[in-house]
Amino acid sequence: MLLLALESTCDETAAAVVNDRLEVLASVVASQDALHEKYRGVVPEIAARAHLERILPVIDQTIRQAGIALTDLDAVAVANTPGLAGSLLVGLVAAKSLCLALDVPLVAVNHLHAHIYACRLAAGKNVFPCVGLVISGGHSSLYRCASPFEFHLLGGTIDDAAGEAFDKVASMLGLPYPGGPAISRVAAAGNRRAHRLPRTFLNERDRIAFSFSGLKTAVRYKIVGPGKQDFSQVQLSEQQVADLAASFQEAVVDCLVGKSLLAIEQTGLRRLCVGGGVAANARLRERLEEAARANDVELIIAPLALCTDNAVMGAIAVEKLQAGHTDPLDLDIIPGMVR
Ligand code: KG4
Ligand code: ZN
Repeated sequence: MLLLALESTCDETAAAVVNDRLEVLASVVASQDALHEKYRGVVPEIAARAHLERILPVIDQTIRQAGIALTDLDAVAVANTPGLAGSLLVGLVAAKSLCLALDVPLVAVNHLHAHIYACRLAAGKNVFPCVGLVISGGHSSLYRCASPFEFHLLGGTIDDAAGEAFDKVASMLGLPYPGGPAISRVAAAGNRRAHRLPRTFLNERDRIAFSFSGLKTAVRYKIVGPGKQDFSQVQLSEQQVADLAASFQEAVVDCLVGKSLLAIEQTGLRRLCVGGGVAANARLRERLEEAARANDVELIIAPLALCTDNAVMGAIAVEKLQAGHTDPLDLDIIPGMVR
C-alpha cells in the first residue's frame, strides 16, 4: 500500500510517500523561512499564498522521487488540525482533489499527534503507550498517548509556545528567524547562570502546565531595563547576547524537562516521546537524556529531520488505514486547538 501524506499547517509545504511497512519512499519539504524572515515570525496570509504556489510542484517532486505514478497511490493523508486556517485549507483541498481524481480514500492527520509519531518512525518499533511532549512554534503540550488513536492532553502552555518564545527572544536579541536554531547557536558560548529568569509553574508539583510569556518579558527587561520597551538605544555585546540566550534557553529547558518528568510520574508510564521543532534543540536533548537516565525512563526524541515540520510523520495515517478508518470528502479544517 502506498500513501501520499501532505503537510501545510504552518510555513512548510511538505509531501511524502510511505508504504504500509512505514518505509519512506520520498520526502520533500519546501521551507518558507526566507519569506517570513524579515517579519521575524510567520505571516499567515503570506504563508497561505506560498503554499498555494508550492503545493503542486512539491507533490510532483515527491511522486518523482518515489519513482511511482500518481495512479499507484492507495490513499492520501493530510494534516487538517491544528494550524493556520489559510495554510491548512491549501493542503486539504489538494488532498481532496487527489482523492476525487484517483478514487482513493482520504485520511485526516492531527499535526500534533503526527509530531509524536515521528518518534515511532525513528524507534522502528511500537512506542505506545507513552508520554508525548510536543514542542513547536505553535504548541507546547504533554499527552498521555495510549495508542496512535488515543492522545489525552495532560497539560500545555497557557500563553506562548516554547518555539514562539525562542522566536520572540531571538528577535529581541537581534538574531535571525527562526529563533530556535539561532539562540541555540549563540547560547553555546554563553553562561547559563548569567541571569536569573523565571521558571513559571516549575515548582507547582501537581500542575502540568507551561507559561513562557513572563520569561519573555523578563528577558526584555534584562535588555532594556525594568518597565522599558525601547530597544533602539540598546547595543549588546556578543557575550551579553550569548549569556542572555544561554540563560533563557536553560529556563525553557528546565520547564520542559521538569514537566515531562511530572507527566511520567503522574501517568506511571516509563516511556517519553518528544517531537516538534524545539526538540531539535541540542541543550534540551542533552538534558532530556540525563533526566531519562537518572529516572530510568525510555526516551525517544524525533531525529532532527523529523523534528521540524515534514510530511513523513503523516505516516500515522497508515495506522488509521490499517484499522479501517478513513475520512469523508467533506472533511473540514480545525485551525484551533483545545486547551
Ligand atoms: O514543529 P515546527 O517546525 O513548526 C510548528 O509546528 O510550529 O517548529 C518550529 C519552531 C520554531 O519556533 C523554531 O524556532 C523552533 O521550532 N526550533 C527550535 C530549534 N529548531 C527549531 N527551537 C529551539 N532550538 C532549536 N534548535
Ligand atoms: Zn509542527
